[in-house]
Amino acid sequence: MYRQLHNLLLAAVLEGQLPAGTKLPASRLLARELGIARNTVIEVYENLRAQGCVEGRHGSGTYIADLSVDHIIEVPRPVEAMPARPTISHIAPALSQRGQSLIAGAGFSRRQWGAFMPGVPDVREFPARVWTRLQNRHWRKAAPERLSYAPEGGLPALRQALAEYLRSARSVRCEPEQIIITTGIHQSIDLTTRLLADPGDSVWLENPCYWGLRSTLQSLGMVLQPLPVDAEGLDWLAAGTRPAPRFVIATPSHQYPLGMVMSLARRQALLEYCRLNGSWIIEDDYDSEFRYGTRPIASLQGLDTNELVIYIGSFSKTLFPGLRLGYLVAPPQLAGAFSKGSAELYREGQLQQQAVLADFITDGHLTAHIRRMRGLYSRRRQCLLEAVQAEFGEQFEVIGNNAGLHLVVRLPDRVDDVAVAEAALRHGVLVRPLSRYYHQSVAGQRGLLLGYACVTEAEITPAFAVLAGVLRKFVKATSA
Ligand SMILES: Cc1ncc(COP(=O)(O)O)c(C=O)c1O
Repeated sequence: MYRQLHNLLLAAVLEGQLPAGTKLPASRLLARELGIARNTVIEVYENLRAQGCVEGRHGSGTYIADLSVDHIIEVPRPVEAMPARPTISHIAPALSQRGQSLIAGAGFSRRQWGAFMPGVPDVREFPARVWTRLQNRHWRKAAPERLSYAPEGGLPALRQALAEYLRSARSVRCEPEQIIITTGIHQSIDLTTRLLADPGDSVWLENPCYWGLRSTLQSLGMVLQPLPVDAEGLDWLAAGTRPAPRFVIATPSHQYPLGMVMSLARRQALLEYCRLNGSWIIEDDYDSEFRYGTRPIASLQGLDTNELVIYIGSFSKTLFPGLRLGYLVAPPQLAGAFSKGSAELYREGQLQQQAVLADFITDGHLTAHIRRMRGLYSRRRQCLLEAVQAEFGEQFEVIGNNAGLHLVVRLPDRVDDVAVAEAALRHGVLVRPLSRYYHQSVAGQRGLLLGYACVTEAEITPAFAVLAGVLRKFVKATSA
């Protein structure tokens, strides 16, 4: 009753139905008329008075206050006439240029689950029971500090556990003090860019690359210099004699989305180039734990003896994306600035969750889960490869299937992969068009990204049959 009456009166005032000076009915009268307690009306009047919406004139009742802006605050007038303020309905043109380009180029998909969503692990397999047990343990003895803001860089126990894990699993050279806990790779890139670059600085990046990376960099005013990828990963030599960038960002252990590994020779040459030219390297190591047939490829950061690499990783693929936990390993000389910068910008928390994750890692559950999922994904990948083979034989090349959570089916240039993806979605199958991962200045290769990690073997064959039906129609139409 209180909320209804309050909102009703407030709306009537803001919309001008109750103009300044209007006298409100006496509380006793209004309560009787509405059949509610008088105290409720008094409370509403009191609250509106506290907001400056009504004023009481002693002995004579409650009146609507004068809310016109000029009456309350003297608004400083601009020296020159300002253009008219946009109204809500005209909000799109009101966006900044970078806001407009962010929204126009957005790659985010409305659906985040189902065949063949790329980049999403099978979250149904997450060991929820173990997690709950560890969580209960921490909630039983939750110290107040754990429920407050996080200390700089995140929970020390998690930074320690991660340092050990990254040293042994990813050959990363690091001490716990170099680790900053973030909400994932998106935030790590945001933080790194804000701390190391100014708007207008240039960045070399892979073409094609992860759309979220491009959007984040662009929205921070970076000048993007997309460079091609070949069989050895980012072909940074293609930059020729261009000035050195502020930083290079790449996925050396598993190029996203095509799947190559950056060769050792190219890694060493890149490290040397950046040392000589004063550029930084950001290594996005988003899913290297999942490699089939051979051991995971060691990180580029582990080869770096000059402390030029900012290494970033995530639990989005190894645990589940909704966890929103990731990490950044800063070079020692930058570690203090990064942990301070992160605390200052994002005001981190989630310490209970970080404590649970620290135990999850030190008790061996993370490595056990990764091992189990690697086996599962390997079988699903095989099943999808067989489905492609059964439907199309050798008609389409399949690439990037040695690692990660997706593979790419290459399509001839004449087939519009965006239209195929849209048609497939209408039939309930989610695929991503490869051409969308290319920078707009370059005509991208055509193909479809198919994630197999979150699809059971029983679902793969029928879902692929639906996709095959859609694809055949497009191929036939373009070859006629
Ligand atoms: C190459 C690459 N980097 C980063 C991310 C996003 O990582 P996070 O969920 O930690 O922000 C993805 C997600 O698919 C990715 O493919």
